[in-house]
Amino acid sequence: MPTSSLETQLTDLQKVAVVEISGADSLEALEQLRVSYLGKKGELSQILKGMGKLEAGDRPRIGAVANDVKEVVQHALEQKKADLQTAQILAQLESETLDVTMPGVYLPQGRVHPLNSMTDRILDTFVGLGYTVADGPEMETDYYNFEALNTPPDHPARDMQDTFYLPDGNLLRTHTSSVQIHYMEENDPPIRIVAPGRCYRRDTEDATHAAVFHQIEILAIDEGLTFTDLKGTIKIFLEEMFGSVPIRFRASYFPFTEPSAEVDVQWNGRWLEVLGCGMVDPNVLKAVGYDPEVYTGFAAGFGVERFAMVLHQIDDIRRLYTSDLRFLRQF
Ligand code: DAH
Repeated sequence: MPTSSLETQLTDLQKVAVVEISGADSLEALEQLRVSYLGKKGELSQILKGMGKLEAGDRPRIGAVANDVKEVVQHALEQKKADLQTAQILAQLESETLDVTMPGVYLPQGRVHPLNSMTDRILDTFVGLGYTVADGPEMETDYYNFEALNTPPDHPARDMQDTFYLPDGNLLRTHTSSVQIHYMEENDPPIRIVAPGRCYRRDTEDATHAAVFHQIEILAIDEGLTFTDLKGTIKIFLEEMFGSVPIRFRASYFPFTEPSAEVDVQWNGRWLEVLGCGMVDPNVLKAVGYDPEVYTGFAAGFGVERFAMVLHQIDDIRRLYTSDLRFLRQF
């Protein structure tokens, strides 16, 4: 075997290896190159197999060339490995850099609907007075919506004009007063509840009427409760809502309370009716099996929309239901 051919093979290998190594774009690719050139079965070993066929005198020189080639390739590998590692660290640092001066990503912020925030505010006030939040079904029987609430069959409140009757004889509750009956059936006195909920009436919709609206019902039952307790509770509640404005109780009539009153607050120079209330009628107590000789109580009911409209100066009840973002963003 001529020494010149081995020597060219070695120098060619070095040339090609150095070019390929400098072109390696990852540590994995570099490792593959190392194996293919310097590994046990690599190209260098393959070439050196030919050494055995050399003249003994030529071996030291070719051996020295082979060593040089090996060193050059090894050096190129180490150099490239260091470069790639540095590049990798830089890239990682780059990708992990946090630029605190960048503007944030702003997600549109949601808001609580004015009817819900008003409900929450009212519930909070009564919870603060020791009341428990209760609820009841929106579909009712005649019994819970009317009969147990001392509303006789010929009472105008039962009029087909006012109530949504369902084909099966049930109805959509016209007020949250029905929750009173459910709660008293399930619980013994003393009772202090505040019950929010949706109500339904066959009203023609206009700026102040909606067929679906929201009420909050108050009920307190105990031994020895009097109209004074009712007045004090309502006064505290309305002061919480409207501030210290003049309040007046007007004698009124509701089937489920006796005596009954409507309450007005003075607002922007006018008397504004805000709720109905009264002492729970003994017939209502009897309907749920309470002894009216032992227990008395008071109740009140009012529309949430009315409070929201007055306190937020909303001119049309329908704005509360149309989900117009230009309106809702104001709250
Ligand atoms: N349920 C009545 C209505 O819908 C409001 C009401 C009046 C509720 C007097 C009461 C009450 O609890 O005592 O108009």
